Amino acid sequence: MARIDALLRDAADRIGGDSPRLDAEILLAHVLGKPRSHLYAWPERKLDANQCDAFTRLVEQRIVGEPVAYLVGEQEFWSLPLTVTPAVLIPRPETERLVELALTLHPEPVADVLDLGTGSGAIAIALATERPGWRLLATDISEAALDVARINAERHRCRNLDFAQGNWYDAAPATRRFDLIVSNPPYVRNDDPHLQQGDVRFEPEGALTSGHGGLDDIRRIAAGAREHLRPGGWLLVEHGYDQAVEAGEIFREAGLSEVRCEPDLGGRDRVTLGRYRPDDL
Ligand SMILES: C[S@@+](CC[C@H](N)C(=O)[O-])C[C@H]1O[C@@H](n2cnc3c(N)ncnc32)[C@H](O)[C@@H]1O
Repeated sequence: MARIDALLRDAADRIGGDSPRLDAEILLAHVLGKPRSHLYAWPERKLDANQCDAFTRLVEQRIVGEPVAYLVGEQEFWSLPLTVTPAVLIPRPETERLVELALTLHPEPVADVLDLGTGSGAIAIALATERPGWRLLATDISEAALDVARINAERHRCRNLDFAQGNWYDAAPATRRFDLIVSNPPYVRNDDPHLQQGDVRFEPEGALTSGHGGLDDIRRIAAGAREHLRPGGWLLVEHGYDQAVEAGEIFREAGLSEVRCEPDLGGRDRVTLGRYRPDDL
């Protein structure tokens, strides 16, 4: 039987990486079914043998790199707790910038919105909860990802959000036009050495990589936008911090106007956006 404070110290020493103490606290709080504050309030409390075993197993999985979010089955995005499994990308805080931009670009209470490659449903659910009057369609090529997204939509009681499976725009009805198309598509180069390092090794490759230059999917999404946007509607796509120039060119080649890139909260180029003026369509 070990005390909470001793277990945390020992686990943090073994886990290593960027945030070992935080990781240990999240895992132990998960085992105990309590908030992290409980660990600070009761550092001398002893765990029973089952709790100790469960914690040790999670720490060992974390040591080999399994992401904390998969181990506890949850990740917060836009202050919403979301269920995550290895079928979906773990939503990143930088993607909240795309949500913010979508809300700012289209302040109207009514809108038709398409989220391409929804994964856990993070972007669509954030928008659906912020704007109950919007109608959203969220798509993914992965049925397993859509199962997770549906769980999250149910969790947050999103009644204004539908899901469809398919390859990018194939999942959307041919006649439906959108005021906003948003996407955080795969954009990592398929030979990027980071794919062999850290937590990302456990995430689905289909959610991460996009051809030799990492831009194949952004190209497909930009190329299809003309047929699916309403006049004046915006396309917003997240990309890597070093892909802004190429993403801008791709948008312009697709005939989009008012193309620009917006930084994330860390000041890194992150979201390229553009739209078709009525004359462009
Ligand atoms: C980078 S993840 C983003 C997930 C989620 N939108 C987020 O921001 O956390 C990209 C998503 O695109 C999906 N995807 C990949 N190729 C696709 C395709 N051809 N058509 C539709 N979705 C695709 C993946 O399954 C994955 O869920």
